[in-house]
Amino acid sequence: MSKRTKEILANMTLEQKIYHLQQITTATFLTTKESKFEIITGPDSAVKLDKGMVYDVGTSLNLVGAETMIDAESNYLKNSKYKIPLMIMQDVIHGHRTLYPINLAVAGSFDRELAKDLAQMAAKEAALDGMSVTFAPMVDLVRDPRWGRVMESSGEDPYLNGEMAKATVEGYQGDMGKYNIAACVKHFAAYGAAEAGRDYNTVDISERTLREYYLPAYKSAVDAGVKMVMTAFNIVDGVPCVGNKHLVKEILRDEWGFDGIVISDHGAYEEMIVHGACEDKKEAAFLAMDAGCDIEMMSSCYVEHLKELIDEGKVTVEQLDKAVLRILDLKEELGVLDNPYRSVNVEEAKKVQLSPEHRALARRGAAESAVLLKNDGVLPFSKKVDSVAVIGPLGATGAIHGSWHCGGKIEETVSVYDGLKSLLGDKVKYAQGCPIEYDAVDESFFDEACQLAKASECVVLCLGEDQEYSGEGNCRTSIDIPELQYKLLDRILEVNKNVAVALFTGRPLAISRLDKTAPAILNMWMPGTEGGNACASLLFGDAVPSGKITMTFPRALGQCPIYYNHYTTGRPKAQEDDEKFVRFTSCYLDMPNSPLYPFGYGLSYTSFEYSDFKLSSNTMNRGDTLVASVKVKNTGKYKAKEAVQLYIRDVKGSCVRPVKELKGFEKITLDVGEEKTVSFDITEEMLKYWNRDLKFVAEKGEFQVFIGKDSACKPFASFMLI
Ligand code: NOJ
Repeated sequence: MSKRTKEILANMTLEQKIYHLQQITTATFLTTKESKFEIITGPDSAVKLDKGMVYDVGTSLNLVGAETMIDAESNYLKNSKYKIPLMIMQDVIHGHRTLYPINLAVAGSFDRELAKDLAQMAAKEAALDGMSVTFAPMVDLVRDPRWGRVMESSGEDPYLNGEMAKATVEGYQGDMGKYNIAACVKHFAAYGAAEAGRDYNTVDISERTLREYYLPAYKSAVDAGVKMVMTAFNIVDGVPCVGNKHLVKEILRDEWGFDGIVISDHGAYEEMIVHGACEDKKEAAFLAMDAGCDIEMMSSCYVEHLKELIDEGKVTVEQLDKAVLRILDLKEELGVLDNPYRSVNVEEAKKVQLSPEHRALARRGAAESAVLLKNDGVLPFSKKVDSVAVIGPLGATGAIHGSWHCGGKIEETVSVYDGLKSLLGDKVKYAQGCPIEYDAVDESFFDEACQLAKASECVVLCLGEDQEYSGEGNCRTSIDIPELQYKLLDRILEVNKNVAVALFTGRPLAISRLDKTAPAILNMWMPGTEGGNACASLLFGDAVPSGKITMTFPRALGQCPIYYNHYTTGRPKAQEDDEKFVRFTSCYLDMPNSPLYPFGYGLSYTSFEYSDFKLSSNTMNRGDTLVASVKVKNTGKYKAKEAVQLYIRDVKGSCVRPVKELKGFEKITLDVGEEKTVSFDITEEMLKYWNRDLKFVAEKGEFQVFIGKDSACKPFASFMLI
């Protein structure tokens, strides 16, 4: 805290301080339309603000555009009694105007630098629109593909989530120069563990599971210097996160030493009443302040009741001052206090947003995140073909950039059809094939599509789910592609076998049937603004797939939750029996235990040979570093990238340990015939976990080491920690 912010605080009235903790929508301050409390991402709860004080709220959220920002900020300052500039926040989730693939896809690039570069691009575009903070990264660990928000997350692994959290925080915040924005990690905590994959639903996990799987990524963001933390909607151990003292005060603030801003999620203070966790808004205000939450987003418990609570001695002025100072300090650090308009620049924004450089980076992001799930040898297609059919409801639309699209627009997004036309010209033709809706039954487009397929040398069949079937509030109980799309595929295959499916999805899908029938499947996820161009270059061999999945694809929804880093049981089924039913082991009557595609899985057009696995020693003394290494050779015909993965298994612990855990990865590029040695350090720190007494320790005993191309790899050595 600086002298300057302390002075500002000293001159603020009690009422003004309380208003500084309030967040409402930026649209409230626009002069260009009727001023109102516009609700963007949540239900409309009455935000009761004193008319005279509205222009003294401390922060606002969600409105894209440099001109609108200038209008809102200047109107705010004109009407504000005290003239402390607003700090404007925005959901910049996977890009601002130039969208890159959804975060679940980017994580699968296994490329920290790429994730950082993409976040930096988003920060610059957002800063030019006057944004100071992004509500990102979302690092909730996810295991249930029914949940629509898996698209925002980096998947099911705590280590990878942590690495991506760090990379993106560094990308957004950089050195906090004028093109950086502050990051806000969310949703603290364990929002991804919603029961039955239904948004906002109950979370009920043990303290051990919380610490072992769910907390590490938030902690990595905090360690990387994230400026803000957003609490989650859900309960943890019976208490809504925004009023959860154990989470916010004891873990986040006291244990991790986080002294930045804690903000609630949209309307979450009042939702504590609906949860049945408090009686009224006054109690909600008390619980949130007592837990350590600073900013109230889109409900008004603080402004209505904080003064009363202070008068009654339940909340102290010191608590209030601390919260206000945190906000003022960030405003100062970002330069908002010196220049309310900070980095906003209408002309520069026009030049930079969607610039060729930004499009090129988004395209690289999409190409390196796409995952080749299956290839019978049809891919890559040859560019020498005379005719290409693009078929499918997702083939000629820009609605593939993904949910949470911020300033991104469908009409600015390259469709697969457009991408293929720019690569190959007029020999590319399109037919819709069928509608996109999951309950569509209309087969009347089939004939036209089949005629086109018959007349073409190869077919790009664009299937999957609508981009708005994932994202906040968009959960599903069926995660296969619609029946109509299968029918279309079957009909197309009757007339042309040279078919590759380009799959678009915001979540892992249960596509066993597609895997059986389609000759090739390229999972593009929701690839962002340049999706169509990236898809075209991958399908026709100008780029080689190197993405891997970071959330397990089940064979069927009935296997969910399914994730690679599970515990064993007392009756595990032997892997060699996977296809059989073995009664009285932990398994299903009607399906193997193994997934359709495991975590870390993804094919390439080339082949990689892993050899010469080495571990520097079979014993580790405390404080030692062992080295595990492998030679990886490109034995195929394409220069390509490969994400080499290190896993470790703690064979026995005072508490049971996962069957394996990702502990390192490196993305390498190999020319045809080239070989590289990849080495990983193994330290004692990497072996620690929350033991029976909930102490974070490495216990002595055997550890197995695995290196491979995905999580199905086998151990090659083990060592004893002494
Ligand atoms: C609700 C979402 O849960 C959160 O992720 C988002 O940042 C806020 N609304 C603000 O839009």
